[in-house]
Amino acid sequence: MRMTLLRLAGAATAGLVAAAALTTAAHSAEAADTLGSAAAGQGRSFGAAVAANHLDEAGYTATLNREFTSATPENEMKWDATEPTRGTFTFAAADQVVNHARGQGMDVRGHTLVWHSQLPPWVGGLGAADLRTAMNDHINRVMGHYKGRIHSWDVVNEAFQDGGSGARRSSPFQDKLGDGFIEEAFRTARAADPAAKLCYNDYNTDGVNAKSTAVYRMVQDFRSRGVPIDCVGFQGHFNGNSPVPADFQANLQRFADLGVDVQITELDIEGSGTAQADSYARVVTACLAVDRCTGITVWGVTDRYSWRSAGTPLLFDGDYRAKPAYGAVLTALGGDGGGDPGDGTASCTATYTRTADWNGGYNGQVTITAGSEPIGSWSTTVTFPSPQRVQAAWNATTTWDGGGSVMTARPSWNGPLAAGASTSFGFTVTKNGSDAAPAVGACTAS
Ligand code: XIL
Repeated sequence: MRMTLLRLAGAATAGLVAAAALTTAAHSAEAADTLGSAAAGQGRSFGAAVAANHLDEAGYTATLNREFTSATPENEMKWDATEPTRGTFTFAAADQVVNHARGQGMDVRGHTLVWHSQLPPWVGGLGAADLRTAMNDHINRVMGHYKGRIHSWDVVNEAFQDGGSGARRSSPFQDKLGDGFIEEAFRTARAADPAAKLCYNDYNTDGVNAKSTAVYRMVQDFRSRGVPIDCVGFQGHFNGNSPVPADFQANLQRFADLGVDVQITELDIEGSGTAQADSYARVVTACLAVDRCTGITVWGVTDRYSWRSAGTPLLFDGDYRAKPAYGAVLTALGGDGGGDPGDGTASCTATYTRTADWNGGYNGQVTITAGSEPIGSWSTTVTFPSPQRVQAAWNATTTWDGGGSVMTARPSWNGPLAAGASTSFGFTVTKNGSDAAPAVGACTAS
C-alpha cells in the first residue's frame, strides 16, 4: 500500500479553485494483464506513437515497454527528419525508436514516406521530373535502411482533401505528378521492401463519408489493377467536434472486404472520465468485430506529451497513471478488467475543489473517482489547516483525528462505483482567519 499526502498549493486566494488528484493502489497477486498481451490474445497488436527524445525518461519507457507491442516513430521518419537536404539521409532519431522497439520485441509501423506535411522546402522547389526521381529515391533509401524491420509502412499519408469533394489534396506530388503519384509510390515501395505491408493512411476517413469513399474507390481500383496495397490506416483523431462515428465498424468492414487489412493508426480521443472511456471502448470493439482489423495504435504514451495535450486524449495521464479509458480498453480487449496497469488493483482518485467562498468561511468538495476497475468502497483524509473548523459535512461518514484537524471520510451510501465513475462529498468550513486550502490525502479503494 502506497500512501502520500499532498499539500494543495496556490489556493490562498479567496475564491480560487484548487484541484489535485492522488491515487493509491492496493496490490494484489493477480496475474498482470496489459494492453499488449490482451490485444495479442485477440490476435491484434496494440501500439503507441513513440518520440525518441522521451526514451531516456524512466516512466515513459517503463509504460511503453510494459503495455505496447508496436511502436510508430511520431516524427522521426518523416521526410524533414530523414532527408532534410536532398540526398543527405539522417536516421539517428528514427534508429533510436526502431532499435528500442525491436529490442523489446515490438513491431514497428513506418510513418511516413510521401506526405504534404513536414516536408523539407527543397522538395516543393523541384520540377516534375526531378520530383519523381526524388520521391522514388526517398522511398528507396528510407525503406532500404529499415528493410526487413518494418511491419507496415504508411507509404502515402493524407492525400485526400477534407470535406465533400472527394478530391485529392493539393501538394507538390499531386500538383506536379498528378493522381498517379500514389500508385507510383506504392509500386516503388513494394520493390524496396517486399516484406513490409504497404498502407494508405488518412484522417476523417473513419466513418462512411465523401472522403473515405474517395479513398475506398482508390483502394478498389488498386486492388482491381494489381497495384500493391496491403492495408489502410484510419488515424482516429477524435474530439467533441469529430466523435467516433456510428458507422465506424461498417466503414472498416467495407475496406476489409476489398481484401486489405485495416489498422487504427493514430488513435486519440479528447475528453476524460467515462465519456472518454466509452468512446475508446467503442473503437476497440469495432476493430475486434472486423477480422482484418489487425492493430490499434494510440498517438502517444502519455497525455503530457500528446500533440493535443490540452485535450488529455490518451490512456495514461501525465504521471503515467492509467485513466478510466485504459480500463475500458483493457476490458474491451478481454483483459482482466483493469486495476492499475500491470498489477490488477482497485484504485481511486480524490480531487478537491472550493465550491463557495465568503468572508468567514468556504465550502469544499472532494470528488472520488474509481480507477480502471469497479470499487466496493473508498476512503480519504482531508487535513484542515489550523485554526479552521469544519461546521458540517455531507455525503460522507466522517471521523476525526489529529486534534480535530484530520477528517477521514468514508461512504455513507455511495461506496460502490463502476470503473471511472465518480461521487462527491462536501463540507462547510469556518476560516477563523486562515484562507488556506485543506490537504486531500490519498484515496484508498477496496
Ligand atoms: C503530428 C505529431 O504528433 C506532432 O508531434 C507533429 O508536430 C505534427 O505531426 N497525422 C499524422 C501524424 O499522420 O504524423 C501527425 O503527427 C498527426 C496527424
